[in-house]
Amino acid sequence: MKSIKINFLQKRYDFVESTNETAKSFVTSGAPEVTAIVASQQAAGKGRHGNTWTSPKGNLYCSIILHPADRGTPLARYGQLAFVVGNAVAKVLKNLSPTLPITLKWPNDVLLDGRKLCGILIEVEGDAAIVGIGMNIQSSPVVSTYATTYLCNHVDKPVEVEEILEQILVLIGEKYESWIENGFDPVRTEWLSHAHHYGETIVRAGIQGRFIGIDDDGRLLIQQSDGIIVKMIS
Ligand code: BTN
Repeated sequence: MKSIKINFLQKRYDFVESTNETAKSFVTSGAPEVTAIVASQQAAGKGRHGNTWTSPKGNLYCSIILHPADRGTPLARYGQLAFVVGNAVAKVLKNLSPTLPITLKWPNDVLLDGRKLCGILIEVEGDAAIVGIGMNIQSSPVVSTYATTYLCNHVDKPVEVEEILEQILVLIGEKYESWIENGFDPVRTEWLSHAHHYGETIVRAGIQGRFIGIDDDGRLLIQQSDGIIVKMIS
C-alpha cells in the first residue's frame, strides 16, 4: 500500500479557549487546506453534546482542518471522519505498545482497558471539517458518567505528548488520503476490528440487541432478537 504523507501546517498555542474554535476562526479567515491547531491547555475545551472537555497541561489537544468537499466528498459523509481518525489513533497507540488493550467505542471514543482515553469531536464550518482530538496522557479527569484513564498509567516508558501528536498527524494524513481514495468500506472494516463489544449484545438508549455494524452514515446497527435492525444516531 502506498503511504502518503501530508505535512500539516501547525499553529501552536500555550493556551486557547478551544482548539476547535480557533480552527473555525482560521477557516473563516481562509486558512490553507490542512492546518493543525495545537494547544498545551484549553480554558473551555468542548466535548460532544455540549459537554466540557477538561484540559489541563500535560495532555494532548489538537484540531485539524480538512476540506473533504474539495476532494469530492459530500458534507453528508463528513461523519465518517470520526472512524477514520479513530483508526489512526488506535494504530498510533498499538505502535507505541502492541499489548495495550485499545478498543474503539461507537461513535468516537478511544478506550484503554475499557476506560475513555481519547475523545474525537467533528464539527463542520462552511465546507471544512474540524477534527478535534483530546487525549489523556498525563492525567484524566473524574467524570461522573463514564470511567476515564490516561496513557502514562499504562505504559512503562516515558510518553511525550509531542511524540504522540506527531504520529497522530502522520497517521491521520495517511488514513485521510486512503479514505478519500478508497471510500468508507475499508475504514469500516478496520474500525470494526477494534470495536468495543462488536458482535455482542448491548443496550443503547433502551434498545437491546446485537451490535452488528455501522452504516455509511455512521449509524450504529443493532439487531434485536426479533431480527429487526435498529439504526441509532449518535
Ligand atoms: C468527546 O469525547 O466528547 C470529544 C472530546 C473532544 C475534545 C477535543 S480537545 C481538542 C479539541 N478542542 C476542543 O474544544 N475539543 C476537542
